[in-house]
Amino acid sequence: MRAFFILPAILWLLLCSQRVISHGDHPLARISIQKTVAAIDNNASIRAFPSTLGANGLNQEWVTVEYSISNPAIDDWIGVFSPANFSAAACSAENRMVSPPLLCNAPIKYQYANRTNPTYKNTGKGSLKLQLINQRSDFSFALFSGGVSNPKLVALSNKVAFVNPNAPVYPRLAQGKTWDEMTVTWTSGYGINDAEPFVEWGLKGDEQRRSPAGTLTFDRNSLCGAPATTVGWRDPGFIHTSYLKELWPNVLYTYKLGHRLHNGSYIWSQNYQFRASPYPGQNSLQRVVIFGDMGKCRMKPMAPMNITISNKWDQFTSQIAPISSLVPYMLASGNHERDWPGTGSFYGNLDSGGECGVPVQNMFYVPAENRAKFWYSTDYGMFRFCIADTEHDWREGSEQYNFIEHCLASVDRQKQPWLIFLAHRVLGYSSATFYADDGSFAEPMGRESLQKLWQKYKVDIAIYGHAHNYERTCPIYQNICTNNEKHFYKGILNGTIHVVAGGAGAGLAEFSTFQPKWSIFRDYDYGFVKLTAFNHSNLLFEYKKSSNGSVYDSFRISRDYKDILACTMDSCPSTTLAS
Ligand SMILES: [Fe+2]
Repeated sequence: MRAFFILPAILWLLLCSQRVISHGDHPLARISIQKTVAAIDNNASIRAFPSTLGANGLNQEWVTVEYSISNPAIDDWIGVFSPANFSAAACSAENRMVSPPLLCNAPIKYQYANRTNPTYKNTGKGSLKLQLINQRSDFSFALFSGGVSNPKLVALSNKVAFVNPNAPVYPRLAQGKTWDEMTVTWTSGYGINDAEPFVEWGLKGDEQRRSPAGTLTFDRNSLCGAPATTVGWRDPGFIHTSYLKELWPNVLYTYKLGHRLHNGSYIWSQNYQFRASPYPGQNSLQRVVIFGDMGKCRMKPMAPMNITISNKWDQFTSQIAPISSLVPYMLASGNHERDWPGTGSFYGNLDSGGECGVPVQNMFYVPAENRAKFWYSTDYGMFRFCIADTEHDWREGSEQYNFIEHCLASVDRQKQPWLIFLAHRVLGYSSATFYADDGSFAEPMGRESLQKLWQKYKVDIAIYGHAHNYERTCPIYQNICTNNEKHFYKGILNGTIHVVAGGAGAGLAEFSTFQPKWSIFRDYDYGFVKLTAFNHSNLLFEYKKSSNGSVYDSFRISRDYKDILACTMDSCPSTTLAS
């Protein structure tokens, strides 16, 4: 696959929509860290090794933790803290998402002491292997008794650290503002006073050149509320973006991340490569994968939010790096990135945990005019993508509405016939229970303004997340199927096919028992969507389950330019009788 889009982003780091009731609790939410008491037991011990990680250049390593205790219990657990010198200070709560008192430093991960040690209950001895990623700080491990509901800190380990905690890590590629530009964003511990960031890159096997990178970061004051500003806070480090320009279409490039220290020495990442995007209109095989709601899960309402939010961003960028370093990885913003009361989000709920969009707007580049307004367009060969931001007003007369119309109207369909609309919340059609119960079968006000644009500009497919399942509609306009075919659309489509692809990982959302006529395929499972453009006339759509990668739903569109030009209901302006 060449391009890789993820829709929604919503909750890779914490909550899911509160209206979706099927999510499991995040494991870290089960820890009542606020009740922790120090009860150091001289007969208990815990140690971790090796104490130095990354000697071979790796930025993730397995650590062995060995521990012993004189009075073992099956609910003893091991917590990982980073930085190693964690504070036992209590943080105050600011809103109903956090309950005081809260330990300001919460573990970044944990595991039960008897997890891989069946005899632990009898012997009090055990060991675990835990994977750590390089995230700009050292680590320590703590042994707790009392379970996760009344933790007692009984032993604390030695410190463990990567050779270079500041190393450049987790590159993510994104399409630039023009077709021939690729942006590379990464994270490091080097601020602008420490080193100069850059990317060394060039055609594979050819001379490599250097392009400078800009540096961003944010602090607690840039965020909007707790827990992001309090117990969820962890220093995000520095985020660098370099712009690789004037690329040759479809050609392989190599690159590596660099930092030039003030003493003249260099810090390098490993080598990576990517294939440049095709020229707009280019007739070549082009493939895009799209999915929504790749994330964790939901916290219990009112549960202590004792996970470190910024840590989740490190974990997330680390886990996607094998893909995001290879193909452009594009995002759309959702409720869990942006929503916060009184901050201009269209919904005044608490879903972002106080982040109000700041981490995602720094961690990831998107070719938006203003990354705080997360809407943008991007071209990929025969595709034009118009990405909306459902957490800002999209209704007629809004700034975003004008952008959406411009994006849809400005594409030359002879060159780029495949016009795709993307948004996080379902602005089109969904029969997930929480939409069906409202009777709206979509985000309220979702279709009112936009359906005339989808129809006028003949949008082929609109894809959403937010509802954690898969659903495909017929080509549709104003609730009515405009085409009775289900798998092979030839010629004029007459409407837009709406797809929910929210099954990338967050807890699944149930469908209504009543299946509307327009809903022609539903799947309560995890999966993703793949688009393959063979040429200007043939597109293949596939839905694959994550469990086995097999196709469970698909359709083809076969049509020519004249079919796009053809007038259908509400798609053409009035004509004149003059000749
Ligand atoms: Fe969502």
